[in-house]
Amino acid sequence: MRIAVIPGDGIGKEVTAEAVKVLRAAASRFGREITLETLPWSADHFLATGETIPPNGYDLLRTFDAIFVGALGDPRVPDNRHARDILLGTRFELDLYVNYRPVRLLDERLCPLKGRGPADVNFVVFRENTEGLYVGVGGRFKAGTEDEVAIQEELNTYKGVHRIIRHAFEFASARGLGKVCMADKSNAMTHGHALWQRVFKEVAARYPAIQPTHYYIDALAMYMVLDPAQFQVIVTNNLFGDIISDLGATFQGGLGMAASGNLHPGRTSMFEPVHGSAPTFAGRNIANPIGAIASAALMLETLGWKDEVAAVDAAILKAVQERQVTRDIGGTLGTDQAGDAIVAALSV
Ligand code: NAD
Ligand code: IPM
Ligand code: MN
Repeated sequence: MRIAVIPGDGIGKEVTAEAVKVLRAAASRFGREITLETLPWSADHFLATGETIPPNGYDLLRTFDAIFVGALGDPRVPDNRHARDILLGTRFELDLYVNYRPVRLLDERLCPLKGRGPADVNFVVFRENTEGLYVGVGGRFKAGTEDEVAIQEELNTYKGVHRIIRHAFEFASARGLGKVCMADKSNAMTHGHALWQRVFKEVAARYPAIQPTHYYIDALAMYMVLDPAQFQVIVTNNLFGDIISDLGATFQGGLGMAASGNLHPGRTSMFEPVHGSAPTFAGRNIANPIGAIASAALMLETLGWKDEVAAVDAAILKAVQERQVTRDIGGTLGTDQAGDAIVAALSV
């Protein structure tokens, strides 16, 4: 396997170093070959060279079996241009239409919801990842004046909505799950989200064994907190999926715990923790590496390395249960030691 590694900015670099250690340890334990090629694309690289991603960057990424990203975002690049090209650009150009964000609580102690344990918090969010409000259609007219007009259009296509909803049902069907919940705001966004309503009904009709449910996104946020156990699979648009995945991260112990994959089934996909570059945490060896390590495990899952995934998941669980973790989830370890604890659990 050849993996492109983009550590990026801030804590992205620190958590990526730990994910890389774990990938190497998992490969070596099972006698597998893994080649990790680090790409320097980041705010530092942009500020030094003026380049966000090279002209052949997306083609280069397509030559790898998978892509691992730490995080992108730096206060020295206030318009976030490099992150737009590297992160959003890769999602769009490689057509990674599924943003797969599992929400799985490992230990009751980590959940801020009163009385909730691992049995109550175990669902996945499928976030549409190639359209919606993220496409950058729009503009600013008379910017900086009192007459400014700012327009940001939400793009919803039949193809885009259909393929993410179908993916959610296929996932549920393959895993024997009985429910898929779609969340939109069709009561207010009566054009774009009417399409989501139409397509959801159309696709659901083809999966009679799966119960389709629907909430408006505001109610969904409320039900996630009140009764997370009712959810198995949630499918929603790009922006709503972004927001509820940070909410879902808190159920797992915080942003440091949450993993994600940007997928186009059958093609080169990209894996990254849900969190960002956390500039105030950067360079302090305090960031939790588990979200990054769990994202590396999702990458191995997609590449079909079943034994390695089971071993990494077990090692993460052991570290969490034995509190061999960073301070954000009740431990005393630094980022590097928390990574070492998972490597140690993996190697036994
Ligand atoms: P953030 O996720 O970087 O951090 C928010 C807060 O969450 C942190 O202050 C910290 O309290 C906590 N946190 C995040 N990661 C953690 C970890 N590994 N361990 C412990 N605590 C952790 O979000 P932000 O502050 O809104 O964004 C900072 C920058 O990151 C921005 O430039 C933003 O655009 C970017 N960003 C990038 C990505 C990505 O690359 N995928 C994702 C989100 C945000
Ligand atoms: C995420 C991030 C990105 C997004 C930002 C950095 C553009 O928040 O991956 O969740 O909004 O998709
Ligand atoms: Mn986000």
